[in-house]
This record gives sequence, C-alpha cells and structure tokens, in this order.
Amino acid sequence: MVLHLTVNGEARTSDAPPLTPLIDLLRDEFHLTGAKPVCREGFCGACTVLVDGVPTLSCLTPAALATGEIQTIEGLAAPGALTPVQAALETHEAVQCGMCFPGMVLTLTHLFAEEPRPARETIRAALAGNICRCTGYERIVEAAVALASANAAA
Ligand code: FES
Ligand code: FES
Repeated sequence: MVLHLTVNGEARTSDAPPLTPLIDLLRDEFHLTGAKPVCREGFCGACTVLVDGVPTLSCLTPAALATGEIQTIEGLAAPGALTPVQAALETHEAVQCGMCFPGMVLTLTHLFAEEPRPARETIRAALAGNICRCTGYERIVEAAVALASANAAA
C-alpha cells in the first residue's frame, strides 16, 4: 500500500507501513526534523504538527490516517522569514533549548488563526498540552499576550 500525504503543500508518497507513526515518516523519510519525539506517549506536545490547521500529536497518529494537509514547522514561513507568532516569541526571547518550540509555535499558530486576540487565560489553556522542560512558560505567554494586544490595536 502506498501512502499519499500532503506535507507543507507538497504531495508526498511513501511505502512505509500504514501504522508508522507520522512523526517517524516526517523525520526519517522526509527529513523534516522539526517535530520532536520526546515522550512518544501523547503527554508533551513536542511532536505537534498541524493537520488541516488543527494541532495533532504526530507520535500518536498513524501515517495512513494523516489524510489532510500536514504542516510542520519547516513549512510555516519562507526561509529567513518569521510568522507573527514566531516574531513575537523571538522579540520576547522566549526560546531556551528549543525542544518544545515547534509544538509551541504550531499550537499558538492555530490559536491565533482561530482567535486573533485571545485572552491570557485562553493562551494558557491552549498551551496546556505543550510541556516546556526549560520551564520558560512566562515569556512564551507574555509573547502571545503581546501579539494579542498588537492585533487588538491593529
Ligand atoms: S512526543 Fe508526542 S506528545 Fe510527546
Ligand atoms: S525551551 Fe527547552 S523545552 Fe521548552
């Protein structure tokens, strides 16, 4: 069975077994290593990608079921460019080791696509499934709050 996927706007095929975790296909076959296999049990959010715009744990998703448009951190912005979410996080120096960041960025990208001016509590709730072992939550939340404020003023 040949798998057909759409990743960052490109049609891809694979001969991998259908139950191959999506993260393994992305990393090992397509060389998209942004999603991180940290816990592999659905607890940390480091493996988050977007499927049809919705945050999805790629460690728990069989590749054959990823039938929508898959977006990884690599496909979020043009090379050298930053999305508003990424720019806000950079401005607030929110990145430490970076292990959690692809998942954080994609989760916030979904949140701001749904709600451009989320409240602080909404931001915290949205990030509840993304664990930062460097415990850099405050700067991450402050960056998102600042982006929400900027959107409200626009
Ligand atoms: S690696 Fe998927 S949730 Fe942790
Ligand atoms: S920045 Fe290190 S795990 Fe979040």
